[in-house]
Amino acid sequence: MSRLIVISNRVSRPSKTGNQGGLAVALSQALRESRGIWVGWSGETTDNFTGHIGFAEDEGVKTATIDLEEQDVDEYYNGYANKTLWPLFHFRIDLAEYARDFEGGYNRVNQRFADTASPLIEPEDVIWVHDYHMIPLGQMLRDRGLKNRMGFFLHIPWPPTRLLVSLPHHTKLVSTLFAYDVIGFHTEEWLESFRHYVEKEMNGTVDGDYVTVGDRTIQAVACPIGINAQDFKDAAISATADEMGELVRASLQNRTMIVGVDRLDYSKGLEERFNGYGRFLKDHPEQHRKVVLTQIAPPSRGEVESYQQIRATLDAIAGRMNGEYSDVDWTPIRYVNQGYPRDKLAGIYRAAKIGLVTPLRDGMNLVAKEYVAAQDPADPGVLILSRFAGAAMQLKDALLINPYSPEEMSDAINRALAMPLDERKRRWRAMMDSVEQQDISWWRQCFTGRLMAVNRENAPPE
Ligand code: G6P
Repeated sequence: MSRLIVISNRVSRPSKTGNQGGLAVALSQALRESRGIWVGWSGETTDNFTGHIGFAEDEGVKTATIDLEEQDVDEYYNGYANKTLWPLFHFRIDLAEYARDFEGGYNRVNQRFADTASPLIEPEDVIWVHDYHMIPLGQMLRDRGLKNRMGFFLHIPWPPTRLLVSLPHHTKLVSTLFAYDVIGFHTEEWLESFRHYVEKEMNGTVDGDYVTVGDRTIQAVACPIGINAQDFKDAAISATADEMGELVRASLQNRTMIVGVDRLDYSKGLEERFNGYGRFLKDHPEQHRKVVLTQIAPPSRGEVESYQQIRATLDAIAGRMNGEYSDVDWTPIRYVNQGYPRDKLAGIYRAAKIGLVTPLRDGMNLVAKEYVAAQDPADPGVLILSRFAGAAMQLKDALLINPYSPEEMSDAINRALAMPLDERKRRWRAMMDSVEQQDISWWRQCFTGRLMAVNRENAPPE
């Protein structure tokens, strides 16, 4: 069996967090089975980059991490990754910043990852690079003579061509993707945008899954990521989830809870969500005191100004709305800036009659799937989901809304509150079928199946 080498900015260390995301679980399992290695940033900084690799093994998963200099973190992580690519790829060219230093830092750090990873890689290994932090890494590994099967997966949207061309040197960046053998996206929509770019900007051709530019042909595929559905179902009926559910229900005093769970990110549409809920309270005075919106939003990327701004905006809106509508014994919004481990979260989801997931743009969105998986089959809640989340392509039985419209959001909340049990069950069953069938192992197989089948002669000549 070929070893799998996973390379991504963040490396998951299972037992240290006790709260692994689905991706970490899926990849950890594959890494354990193949005795592979997960390579990435330690999350720490050092005064002088020495190339020192920190090796660790946790629950059978080997990790190899490097510390980065502060300048690296500023230019690569905060800079090019999170001030340039993240907003641009989420269609927010108004927030994207273009600075030469960012691009330089991004390339420098990717070279550092290439230097770190290449001596660890053996000829039979299969390499799987993840996400926008590491687009050019494959090319840099090829430049070091590696002929391995190599795949890349993008976990965020691929923007329309007319937006992507606003990025200086966009073709240079995109052309590095042709060093991989297979590249993956979460939805057909992102895949189509990629193909469109290649045809319009790179004179490329598309033939089914195959995309050719010059003498390089790669496969570009859509594989929607899922969750570990069984695990999440179990988590939702665990003792910890029960306790959490009880705690929440007791505090609600028979009110209905709507829940949102998101990293504090402008792409998640939190401002729009608060405004939509505000519109609902305005439209439906009869619902006052009967509902509570619990928004869980752990802060994220706090060194980036646009994240500081969204945080301040949300503080202000939540404060204003609570001031306007609260009574001595009712607060319409519970705004919580901390995260919860999986089992507790599952209990919170299950206690909520409505899951409100309203990103303005999202590669996939796994919260929507987790909310579905955590529901009580005998009395399931209703998922309200943005049309602009990748998950909307699969969860068609959610109440799909345009998050930019407070009226649509208000109407959907009202409809969800009144939805009869039969309809709730029917919609939930259809969504749960999709969540269970296209789960995390299905996703892994969808992508690695292609990658493993690549004929290595396809690797570019040295
Ligand atoms: C998104 C990205 C991931 C990233 C995660 C958390 O899901 O696609 O690559 O790891 O956000 O963001 P952070 O900047 O904290 O790693």
